[in-house]
Amino acid sequence: MNPSVEKILVSEEEIDRITTRIAAEIDRDYKGNDGRLILLCILKGSIVFMGDLMKKITIPVEIDCMKVSSYGSGTQTTGNVHIHLDLIRPDLPDCDLLIIEDIIDSGVTLSYLTKYLKNKGAKSVRTCTLLDKPSRRKVDFKPDYCGCEIPDEFVIGYGLDYDERFRALPYVGVLKPEVYSGE
Ligand code: IMP
Ligand code: MG
Repeated sequence: MNPSVEKILVSEEEIDRITTRIAAEIDRDYKGNDGRLILLCILKGSIVFMGDLMKKITIPVEIDCMKVSSYGSGTQTTGNVHIHLDLIRPDLPDCDLLIIEDIIDSGVTLSYLTKYLKNKGAKSVRTCTLLDKPSRRKVDFKPDYCGCEIPDEFVIGYGLDYDERFRALPYVGVLKPEVYSGE
């Protein structure tokens, strides 16, 4: 195990079961719908989850990306959402957007993005997250698809970072507090 990881919270096997379950739910819910289903990857944290999930979906999907941030450099949210890379599609009224997120914490990012994309004219907007920390909410928000709920601990791996580190770990782990203490 990586020496900065205190414990593994979601193992590779568990992640595999989660992506299989959510892909089946997406297949079931969007089968036969008349729009274009777009999996919208929120960079960079959702890259790994998105890659695994899309391989298990069997109905036709397209992919797109946005880059947003609500965090500064550490473990605390700033409360503001910045769009660094926007979604530009002239066919948005034909698109069923499914936002793929790594983790929901305060809820600020996804509640903002959902409204933003509906206002932009998408046919529908739903949300899918690998992880959810419901105890941390600052705004009321419930995802349509959720991998698993986790306690209020700062996690890394499987796309999630601390200061851009640890994204390539194949599992989700709790970071040792000494790695970010002194922040
Ligand atoms: P929210 O807007 O507070 O819900 O923040 C969501 C974003 O904060 C996620 O997309 C992550 O980038 C980041 N984030 C929240 N909690 C964690 C964590 O435990 N580890 C790594 N990133 C996190
Ligand atoms: Mg993120």
